[in-house]
Amino acid sequence: MKSLKIIGTGVSLPSRVLTNADLEKMVDTSDEWITERTGIRERRIADDDVSTSDLCADAIKNACADAGLEPRALDAIIVGTSTADTLFPSTACWVQGKLGLRGPAAFDVSAGCSGFLYGLELASALIVSGTATRVGVVGGEVMSKVVNWKDRSTCVLFGDGAGAAVVAAGKGDSGVLASNWGADGNLASILYQPAGGTQKPATHQTVEDNAHTVHMEGSTVFRHAVMAMSQAATSAMEEAEIKPDDVDLFVPHQANMRIMEVARERARLPREKMYVVLHKYGNMSAATVPVALHEARTEGRIKDGSVVVTTAFGTGFTWAGSVLRW
Ligand code: ACO
Repeated sequence: MKSLKIIGTGVSLPSRVLTNADLEKMVDTSDEWITERTGIRERRIADDDVSTSDLCADAIKNACADAGLEPRALDAIIVGTSTADTLFPSTACWVQGKLGLRGPAAFDVSAGCSGFLYGLELASALIVSGTATRVGVVGGEVMSKVVNWKDRSTCVLFGDGAGAAVVAAGKGDSGVLASNWGADGNLASILYQPAGGTQKPATHQTVEDNAHTVHMEGSTVFRHAVMAMSQAATSAMEEAEIKPDDVDLFVPHQANMRIMEVARERARLPREKMYVVLHKYGNMSAATVPVALHEARTEGRIKDGSVVVTTAFGTGFTWAGSVLRW
């Protein structure tokens, strides 16, 4: 077991709310369709002058305050995001600058919706190897700036936000009991942002074609997400020798209620153990897991000693599952 502890959590959620009723005025959709097919009722949207690093810096500050630390106590900052501030430098470097820090290692993990759990896995490795003592891991996105607001099949799904955790060496039996992560790059083009990188640099044509926005084959994503999320959760539980009865809370990536329900059923976990924030925030990609973990802690659903199973799936495709003892 990797003995470590999440000593603080925090979030940053824009105050502007976009409801399904608002979306009805923007595209040919209905509250009924969105609620039935996804479970989403509203989502948060960042102001035009807010970028991913603003939300991430705010979430890290809040997580450090929760841990009783100043951000300067961190010796590494890991940002999971698919909506980077800039192609270079990393969003983590922008975050570090906004926190007024100089020195801690700072880097991004590009693993889509699995970004926070990938980051947590890296933070565990850094701490267990003695390379770092306190790591800030944050998942943050401003999806609203990469969504095509004329495409009803994608624009209704996403929201903006960030969630962070401060991870430190632990005592006793808290930590990551087991984890499972992976990727299948053969399916990269099923869900991606086609233009803006070196494959297809920005041109007038790419802008005209809306190629800087989310392109997704929704039903293929759906099929793979269900399979990978349930397998990652089940494998981590088996490795940790944790039975469904031992689990206090299941915190899946919040993309679609139907994906979450099937993943939960396949992991043989009862409905009352699944924590849901999807209806309030939509799919915030890498931010959904840390935001849900923070809200579950705030509500008292996660306490010291709680066993939490978390799992995610995202662009790449990437997936990750972890069993944590808080
Ligand atoms: N409002 C009304 N109708 C819509 C909308 C909308 N917003 N979007 C699509 N439709 C229509 C389609 O045009 C289609 O109409 P047609 O039958 O006349 O052609 C019909 O609804 C059914 O479309 P489907 O795509 O088959 O609907 P489905 O039940 O598969 O739901 C959805 C679509 C919600 C996108 C689903 O496939 C999904 O959730 N996939 C996973 C995608 C996801 O979560 N991606 C996020 C990133 S990855 C991750 O986080 C895991």
